[in-house]
This record gives sequence, C-alpha cells and structure tokens, in this order.
Amino acid sequence: MDRVLLTWHGHSCFQIDTGATTVLIDPFISGNPNAAVSIEELDPDIVAVTHGHRDHLGDTVEIATRKDCMVVCIHELSQYLRSKGIKTTGMNIGGTVEIGDILLTMTDARHSSSIDESGWCFDGGRAAGFIIRSKGISIYHAGDTAIFSDMELISRLYQPHVALLPIGGRYTMGPKDAALAVEMLCPEIVVPMHYGTFDHIAQDPVFFSDCVKKVSSAEVIIMGIGSDLWL
Ligand code: NI
Ligand code: MN
Repeated sequence: MDRVLLTWHGHSCFQIDTGATTVLIDPFISGNPNAAVSIEELDPDIVAVTHGHRDHLGDTVEIATRKDCMVVCIHELSQYLRSKGIKTTGMNIGGTVEIGDILLTMTDARHSSSIDESGWCFDGGRAAGFIIRSKGISIYHAGDTAIFSDMELISRLYQPHVALLPIGGRYTMGPKDAALAVEMLCPEIVVPMHYGTFDHIAQDPVFFSDCVKKVSSAEVIIMGIGSDLWL
C-alpha cells in the first residue's frame, strides 16, 4: 500500500498504519468510557506516548507487555517504563528516531507531565508532541498543549499535511485557540481530538470547524471513534 491509514480510537489515541509499521499514539482505551475497541484487538509495532498523564500513558504498559513492542517517549518516562520490563526508545524534544519506515520527531508542548501511581505522583519529564513521517506524509500529533507561537517553527520544519489538535479546553487549547494554531501550522487536514471524553472537556467540533474556516483553508475532518482516514 502506498498510502497511510489513520484511525481514531477516541480521546488522543490515534493509530497510523503504513502497511509495514503500525504506530499507536497515547493508547487510553480501557479507561475511556467511549472507547470502541478493546486493547486485545490492538496490534502495534510502536507505541508513542506524548506524556505521563493517565489519559495518554493509558494502557501502554499492558499493550507493550503483551505485544513486546517498542515504546517511544521522553527519557524520564522511558526510564519508568523500562523498570516495568518494557522495551523503550527514550528521546527528547527536537530529536528524531527512525523505526521501520517511520520517522518520529518529538516536538514541544505547553503542558505538564507526571506519572500517577497509587496516589503518588512521579516526575514524567516534559510533555511533548510528535511529528510522524512516512511515505511522504507528515502528521503532527500535538499531544496535550496550550497554543504556542513555535507552532510556526513546527510548520516551517516539518510541513505537516495533517494536524491532530486538542480542542477540549480546561487542560489544553479550546476551539478558538486551536483554530489559531491551524493558522500557524498550515496543514491540509485538521482532526480535532481530546474533547467530549469527559463532561469537563465537552466541546462542539462543528464550532471548531467554523472557527478554522475564518482563518484557514484547511479541511477539518471530524472523525468518529473507530473511524479511518486514508492519507
Ligand atoms: Ni495531560
Ligand atoms: Mn490529556
């Protein structure tokens, strides 16, 4: 196959399948009341984690243990996962790793990170996003983030065709600032994420789409949970 298949599993969890390699990003499945897939059905080669919060680290330990797959994440999180016997590729913001036919570049995100376990909070390093490139397609997964002006640099450096952006507000950008992020990123396609999973991040993605139309010619695609998009 010469195209890339993008699947949304709800919240910030996306799967990118090149035919040769499958990357699963932020696999928050068993704790997601709206999940349409079970973790047993997922079969990734790589799990990429943007930060330690439980709605992103999610089922990473279970999936990586069962599939014996590689987890790509920031150094501090990789040390934690390694202590659980998981194979990791630790990296940091600005760096790129190549795995199979995929390039993963870690980008900045304006957010916090921690590993929450049994009432304790461990340092999770920095929160990040990813640029994922394969077959001439560049996909930006912003992770959890506020808007920041270096999104213009991300646009210049990696020219994302697709931007996966949080719009839920409260913990991340809301619809209006995410629309301004689209203006800076200049993607062809935008997919909203990190909304509607819980009451306090309820948002109308159509309102986000209307905000984008005012500032950008990018196409907003509101994916359903479990739906696919060929790129
Ligand atoms: Ni978070
Ligand atoms: Mn989150």
